[in-house]
Parts: sequence; C-alpha cells; structure tokens
Amino acid sequence: MGKHSFHKEPYDAATLTKLAIFESYAEAWIPVFTSRPEPRFSEIHLFDFFSGPGNDSEGELGSPLRLLRQLKTYHVSGRLHGWSKVAIHVHFSDAHQGKCDELAALLSLPQWQIPGVSCSVKCLRFAEALALHHQRLRDADLPKLLIIDPFGVNDVTDEVFARLVAFPRADFIFFLPSATLNRFRDHASIKVKIERPEDSYDVHRAAFDHFRALAPRDYFLGRFSIKKPRGNIYGLIFGSGHPRGIQKFLDVAWGNDTIRGEANFDIDREDVSADAPLLALPELRPRKIQGFEDDLEHALRAGLVRDESDLIRIAIEAGMALKHCAPVLKKLKDERVIACDFRSPNIDNFYKSPRPVSLLSPPA
Ligand SMILES: C[S@@+](CC[C@H](N)C(=O)[O-])C[C@H]1O[C@@H](n2cnc3c(N)ncnc32)[C@H](O)[C@@H]1O
Repeated sequence: MGKHSFHKEPYDAATLTKLAIFESYAEAWIPVFTSRPEPRFSEIHLFDFFSGPGNDSEGELGSPLRLLRQLKTYHVSGRLHGWSKVAIHVHFSDAHQGKCDELAALLSLPQWQIPGVSCSVKCLRFAEALALHHQRLRDADLPKLLIIDPFGVNDVTDEVFARLVAFPRADFIFFLPSATLNRFRDHASIKVKIERPEDSYDVHRAAFDHFRALAPRDYFLGRFSIKKPRGNIYGLIFGSGHPRGIQKFLDVAWGNDTIRGEANFDIDREDVSADAPLLALPELRPRKIQGFEDDLEHALRAGLVRDESDLIRIAIEAGMALKHCAPVLKKLKDERVIACDFRSPNIDNFYKSPRPVSLLSPPA
C-alpha cells in the first residue's frame, strides 16, 4: 500500500494489529488517571500526531476514532469514578490539510461528542506540533499519551527520541516503518550482515537496542514487531518513565503474542503453538518463557530478590508480564526455598510498599 493510497484502501492485517495495540494501550492508560474518585491530576492529554482522516476506505476506524471509542466506552460505562473531575483533551494533527478536514467532519458527528472530552484537529507537521505543544509536553502535572504513527523515515530521529524520553509523565508509542529500520542494518548487535533488512527478524531488536542506549538507564522501553503480509517487518517502540506504563504495554503485547509478547509472527522461529506455554515439559515451552523462569528461579535461589519491586524490575527488563513470575514463585514456595505472601507481584506496590520475599534455605 503506497503512502498516497493508504487511506483510500482497506487497512491491511498488519495495520490493524498496530491500530489494535494503540487502542488497547489507550484502554489501559485512560483509567490510570480517571478511575479514582479523587483523581490526582485535573487534566490529561492524548496526542495523535499522525492522525490521518479517521478511517480507511471501508470505514474501519483509524487511530483517532479508536482513541475516542475507548473514551466513549468508558464514559458510557460510568465506571470511572473520577471522570467528571478530569478534563480530557485530545489533540489530533496531520500534515495533510484534506485529511484534517475529513477528520474534523467526522469528529463533528453526534456520536463523537463525549462529555468531558474536548478534541482539536490541526494541520501541522510533527515538528510543528511538538513545538506548538512544547509547554504542555514539558509539564509534569499533565499526564500525556503520545501516539506517533508516521509513514516517513525521518520523523523519530535520535534528537526527537531524546526529547520524547525527557517529557515528564508522558507515555508514547511510535511506529517504525521498515524503511526506518533499514538504518539499523549495520548495527553492532546484528551478528549476521543483513542484505535486505525487511526480511530480517533481528532488525527491530537492533533498533530497540539503539534507542535503549539513547534513553536514561531508569527509563522503560518496550517493543512489538509486526510482519506485513508481503514479509516486511515493522516495529512499535513504547516508552514510559513509570513502571506502570511499561507493565500495561507488556500486558497488551502479551495479549497479542502469547508465546513471547513481542511480535505478530514467530520471531524466534521456534514453531511452538500458542498452547505451549501451558505445557509442563520444558522442551515444549517457548524459549522466552522458559528462559525467564530459569533466570528468575536462579535469582531467587541466589537471594538476589529481596522484595516485590525486585521481581517487577526483573520481569519488566525481560519484557515479561508480571503474571509470568507466578509459576516460579509457586514452585519455590512449595519447595520451601522462599516465603512471600503473594502469588504474583502487583505494580501498585512498586514504589509504596513492596512486599518482602525471604530466602528460607541459604544459597547452595
Ligand atoms: C501511517 S499514516 C497514519 C495513519 C493513522 N494513524 C490512521 O490510523 O489512519 C501517516 C499519516 O501521516 C501524515 N504525515 C506525513 N508526514 C507527516 C508529518 N511530517 N507530520 C505529520 N503528519 C504527517 C500523512 O498525511 C498520513 O495521514
């Protein structure tokens, strides 16, 4: 699908996967700031910097209307107790005036009028939108979600990435088109010389490593690789300064890939089935899950895990959902190697009051 025909044709399966991930993340993000009866912040801001016109040729919803669909569903449900105390601002922008006009027309329909939510559509290039919103983006009292979905190869440069990770209280997801991934073909972490980066299984991991090296050490990044029907690999990179942000992204990623939580295809070329995580035999289980369980067991037996926060950090750094800690904790509790009074770590306790994990038998 060419750039110019993108919104004049149906979204392909890979685009739908990408859009589903944007939407699922928004679904997880919105309640963090609106569910408490006394919300901590009085405003939240969602940005969609490459919004497009709102849908494809078949009327399938694009990113802007998916963000609004989530807000509308929450509003109708009435289950977010702080909703009426939080002003929700949604900022859409796109470089193409015609697409902005189409989106503005859709947003004026009665079905997209959502109490408590105000939307704006501006015809702006990404760099112009970043400049326009500079103050908001730098404001630590404004929680922000940034969706960045370009066609282009030069939109999220290293300099732009450095700005994104410096925005306080901001979670972002950006899309790396395969042409962008091209620049990672000579990256040191790619062992085999890649002639055609779009065929490579490793190139998105290399891109991730590149961005990892640019971000502060305590910043959280996640990734998800998407294979197009023709075989090109595209990537999503997620960033958050908060463990809760990355934990929610990892839950979304594992919801889309139950085998290793990072791709819509067999990225490790293991040919295991989606049921395999449930199987007990180690050789039948996905390497990523088995490897994580082995590493975690080793860390617990060595007394390297003092509490719930350590567990959360280990899981997040390995790109695992927190529930993946549960089988190892159960096994070592049953064997009386450790004691802890929880089955799986809870992100709410990360900073406040992490529950202890005690080693009962000394390391061998
Ligand atoms: C991949 S499409 C976005 C699709 C959209 N998220 C959706 O769900 O339909 C990329 C969009 O970026 C716009 N665009 C291209 N260059 C841009 C730039 N420098 N800044 C902002 N928008 C740009 C295009 O007009 C196009 O609508």
